[in-house]
Amino acid sequence: MCGIIGYTGEKEAEDILVDGLEILEYRGYDSAGIALCQADGSVRISKCAGRVKELRALCKEAGFRGTCGIGHTRWATHGGVSDANAHPHQFGKVTLTHNGIIENYRSLIQRYGLEDKLHSQTDSEVAAAVIAHFYNGDPLAAIRKAVLKLKGTFALSIIFEDIPGAIFAVRNVSPVVIGRAVQGSMLASDVTALGQYTKKYFVLPEFHVAVLKKEGIELYDMSGEAASWEWMTVDWDVDRSGKGGYPFYMEKEIMEQPEVIGETIASRIREGIPDLSGDGIPDSLLADCKRISVVACGTAMHAGLVGKALMQSLVRIHMDVELASEFMYADAIVDEDTLVIAISQSGETIDTLEAVKYAKKNGAKTLAVVNVRGSSVARASDYAFYTNAGPEIAVASTKAYTTQLAALYLLTGRMAYVRGRFGREDAERFAKELLRTPEAIQAVLDRREEIHYIARSILNAKDVFMMGRGLDYSILLEGSLKLKEISYIHSEAYASGELKHGTIALITEDTPVVAVVTQGKLQSKEFSNIKEVQSRGAGVILFIKETFDMDRNASWDGVFRLPAMEDGFMVMPASVALQLLAYYVSLDKGLDVDKPRNLAKVVTVE
Ligand code: M6R
Repeated sequence: MCGIIGYTGEKEAEDILVDGLEILEYRGYDSAGIALCQADGSVRISKCAGRVKELRALCKEAGFRGTCGIGHTRWATHGGVSDANAHPHQFGKVTLTHNGIIENYRSLIQRYGLEDKLHSQTDSEVAAAVIAHFYNGDPLAAIRKAVLKLKGTFALSIIFEDIPGAIFAVRNVSPVVIGRAVQGSMLASDVTALGQYTKKYFVLPEFHVAVLKKEGIELYDMSGEAASWEWMTVDWDVDRSGKGGYPFYMEKEIMEQPEVIGETIASRIREGIPDLSGDGIPDSLLADCKRISVVACGTAMHAGLVGKALMQSLVRIHMDVELASEFMYADAIVDEDTLVIAISQSGETIDTLEAVKYAKKNGAKTLAVVNVRGSSVARASDYAFYTNAGPEIAVASTKAYTTQLAALYLLTGRMAYVRGRFGREDAERFAKELLRTPEAIQAVLDRREEIHYIARSILNAKDVFMMGRGLDYSILLEGSLKLKEISYIHSEAYASGELKHGTIALITEDTPVVAVVTQGKLQSKEFSNIKEVQSRGAGVILFIKETFDMDRNASWDGVFRLPAMEDGFMVMPASVALQLLAYYVSLDKGLDVDKPRNLAKVVTVE
């Protein structure tokens, strides 16, 4: 979590840094700050608890000027949310910003006698102190020596008071991208913050030190030798980073889904069938594995659950879906016959990344389904399937999720074909239906005001239960997470058949239930389960495939008829309907939809 940015060049740095922090704010928004190198060599810091807009006002008031500086937006880990714990941190001649966690900060405090010398409760200030300890005029040597003492994850951007105009950066795991822009050099936690200035960037290799100057960039390895890097190109439309007239990114990103899903799918259908050769994914990878393990977190893990249902029924292959944070600690069984699929929007989620490393160490083949090109998970994996969601800024994932689903459909379709479960005609039929998903989703979006109306019935609920069976249950797990994270309503998704094994005790007239019914073979059982909760007084909101019959005599708190696709594809329109439900609840409660409390978009701490 946390976003870092740096600029050195011809221009005044303040606005460049603060504008960049506004873009990076989704990574953490507890506090923010910048440090500017003044013309006289001194470093001036403006920082405060609160959002970037408060920092902007503070900077204007302070009136510091400088053409070189670093900035930070924080998601608190060590130390509460306060002005003092906001970054940048200064110790001696060293000023730095940090993304990550220095795990051994306590022992470093003891070892370097820092007990009474620190001004914050952060691990980051300790890193500044350790660098300052080793600094005697040679910044590269000091950084190299200090970094070897740090345990944990870090992306550090550092300025030295007596070296004006230069920014030093080093990292382990936590990301840093670097580019030439605005008549100077820039660094950031991710490319979205650079994208408005340049399309060319490179990812700072781990345990290398980059030196950014007005004139150019230098890179050194840990032995002090000059190193080279590989330029990459931002391949998404920078316009997609704005709100495009919507009040929140989340609404804009929900509305973009027909387009981005269309792009994700259409580019992988060749001669009428799913084809992943353009992604460099060989058929042998899909044909030869004996089992699949998905590793992912949060929404991405929920996408994996849909993938599991698809793979098991269409490919008949054993597939596990594991929370990445539990994977290696549970001594997961993976071997050379296992295909491990890591799903991640950001490609920077540390648990997912560590799970990939564990899988590789155990001989598994790894495939990343990732949105952000060149991200850590993509680079760590043997193969990458890039979803075409474009930048997703809202903390609540929407288009990233549905493009992950699209990727899993494509993988399933191709796998079924290369393993002989699908003949050519089956594969064509599958691809044809998949290509219909953008239009089905558009049909939901066109009727979004109906969902807005329905959402009002749960606005004041304290608890909401969600129920469904099979694929419907998988997407309700995600629908429930969406509602929790942006509306702060407690919500639980339940497999309908499981409710009566305990949880039904909580169902009363005060616990609205959201039910999704899209699977023909489960329809009648589902309606029996719905009756069970209605009999206990719960009001039910029903999302149902439009071609299914429903009990017209029952009373519903709301009914939304979902555009019909084949049952196996109904998760697409139904998921979008659930996203809209959560969105409108949050919107009507007057909450900050894009930046829910306590969360950050990219989770780079374990
Ligand atoms: O970037 P990732 O897809 O790896 O992120 C995983 C989760 O942190 C993420 O999906 C999270 O659950 C979202 N906030 C949910 O909307």
